[in-house]
Amino acid sequence: MPSVFIKTYGCQMNERDSEAVAAQLVAKGYTLAPSEAAADVILLNTCSVRDFAEQKAIGKMQNIAADVRKNRPDVVLGFMGCMAQSRGQELIDRLPDVDLVLGTQKFHHAADYLDEILAGHRDKIVDVAVEPGSEATIREHLLNGNAQKSVTAFVSIMQGCNQYCTFCIVPYTRGEERSRGIPDIVAECRQLVSQGVKEITLLGQIVTSYGKRGGSSREAKVESREPENFLPSTLDSRPSTTKSPFVQLLDAVHEIEGLERIRFTSPHPKGYGDDLIQAYARLPKLVESAHLPVQSGSDRVLKLMHRGYTRERFLGIIKKLRRARPDIGITTDIIVGFPGETGDDFEQTLSLAREVQFDNAYIFKYSQRRDTPAAEMPDQVPLKIREERNHRLLETVNEIGKRKYDTFIGRQVQILVEGPSKKNPARMTGRTRCNKIVVFEGSERHRGQLLDVKITRAGSFTLYGDPAVVSL
Ligand code: 5AD
Repeated sequence: MPSVFIKTYGCQMNERDSEAVAAQLVAKGYTLAPSEAAADVILLNTCSVRDFAEQKAIGKMQNIAADVRKNRPDVVLGFMGCMAQSRGQELIDRLPDVDLVLGTQKFHHAADYLDEILAGHRDKIVDVAVEPGSEATIREHLLNGNAQKSVTAFVSIMQGCNQYCTFCIVPYTRGEERSRGIPDIVAECRQLVSQGVKEITLLGQIVTSYGKRGGSSREAKVESREPENFLPSTLDSRPSTTKSPFVQLLDAVHEIEGLERIRFTSPHPKGYGDDLIQAYARLPKLVESAHLPVQSGSDRVLKLMHRGYTRERFLGIIKKLRRARPDIGITTDIIVGFPGETGDDFEQTLSLAREVQFDNAYIFKYSQRRDTPAAEMPDQVPLKIREERNHRLLETVNEIGKRKYDTFIGRQVQILVEGPSKKNPARMTGRTRCNKIVVFEGSERHRGQLLDVKITRAGSFTLYGDPAVVSL
């Protein structure tokens, strides 16, 4: 049977999609190639969030095509995921060596399409159509990477986004929000736990909107008391007894015996109603960790971005979260140089970063995306200024992060051991509940264990545990 190599760009949702495609192909008899050089099929799972990500994947495919077509003309080349969705046929027009372009609602057809191309029944396939029900098709897992059991797993709960932030291409690449049903998701989680998984990360482009709109989430929709087109303010006034579909899902997953930890990404700040804050206080398996993309500290820019919250509301959420879980680790995404962002707007972002004291922040220079409203806005910020702001914010965020990480030195923390460290496979690595990576001198037998480790040293965004005080 042919071998396949999948290279993934971008977010955790893309990682998960690649895993599901790989598992689907393995189930059909394909093998997984260790590198592209050894593969009969090479797929690039792409990201469109910034132009840089698209250029990287296009450049990579150009290199692969040049090499492969010279030496191994039968190798099948494909693009899948977000850039495949947004560019479609255009990719084959530009790179005629590409055989397959598979959109974000079509991952479950990968094996059939590849079979047809490999058998010579079809030459080129481009499929980027909308497919109702596709949100429930990302379900296969590869739990035995490196022949070792996986301790953590991603579970896709919904697809798409209806927020339409003015900078963001995601609504156009991932489509309308569609959610899977709670029983379906819980069944997948149970199955994973029965295979040894201890920690599950629930995934979606905007998980806090889970179950609010179309899709196969019949149960969640019936139980939801949210109006269809809810306004941010309705979340604040929701009585504490009313649970959003997302919190209902957290409750249901929390019931699973043997599951130790629950994470989720990405939420939207406006989805942090009191029911979700209370979930942090109520549900011990829900870890002390939140990735809350703020994007800007300026109300003026937040409005231009169509984010649906103010700086004050965001700070209020942080305060409530820290009240519920004082040790919570909070990370964020920030865009610098959004069109019209003035020096004063940027100072407000800096001051917000200082005020919140994020554990870490992912900073992005604004990138014009086609068909998005912000791409047409006046006062686009020159690259030089975007770079300067990126640099200044990064310095601030790193300084704060370093101080935060240093406070762990001498403390005992619980980690879930995931496997050998990527940088140094002689060491093991795990994560704290607040999502900090801890490297320690352990061994394979620690994999899957919840261990108390004493932190002896802090590097940049990594903690080190002392092997002498690993309690067994
Ligand atoms: N330019 C720069 N950054 C962007 N992001 C999304 N769209 C853009 C864009 N056009 C960032 C946001 C988002 C993260 C995944 O990528 O910060 O949260």
